Amino acid sequence: KKLMIINGPNLNLLGTREPDVYGSLSLHEFLDTIAEKYPTVEIFHFQSNIEGELISKIQEVGFTYDGIILNAAAYTHTSVGIGDAVKAITTPVIEVHISNTFAREEFRHHSYIAPNAKGVILGFGLQSYELAIQSFLNK
Ligand code: DQA
Repeated sequence: KKLMIINGPNLNLLGTREPDVYGSLSLHEFLDTIAEKYPTVEIFHFQSNIEGELISKIQEVGFTYDGIILNAAAYTHTSVGIGDAVKAITTPVIEVHISNTFAREEFRHHSYIAPNAKGVILGFGLQSYELAIQSFLNK
């Protein structure tokens, strides 16, 4: 299995950014533990703060990979373009969020990605990503 984790804006600051909301583990520490835990899966990672780069990556992997785990961060709530990209590809996408976006500000309650995602996992901290990996593996 070949999975791609795509992280959007500001997620490069995981570990230092609002640790009470997003935890104290850095993205790379977390990805290392995931790689160790799932040695039989090829798990790739891409992070960008730039909307168009996220769209290009979704297009690039979206016809050949077995699954995409997408945390588009703030673009979740604003980007018609990322929503359209998810709709345009054939690889299933699981939308994930670290925080429970429904327990937060109203503007975080809407997602342009969710209507075209296979499913959404949110509110479990970094474990949200792991639950998405497990879902792809159980198929
Ligand atoms: C987030 C939730 C978004 O609302 C926010 O803009 C983020 C992170 C999360 O993983 O909880 O940057 O996607």
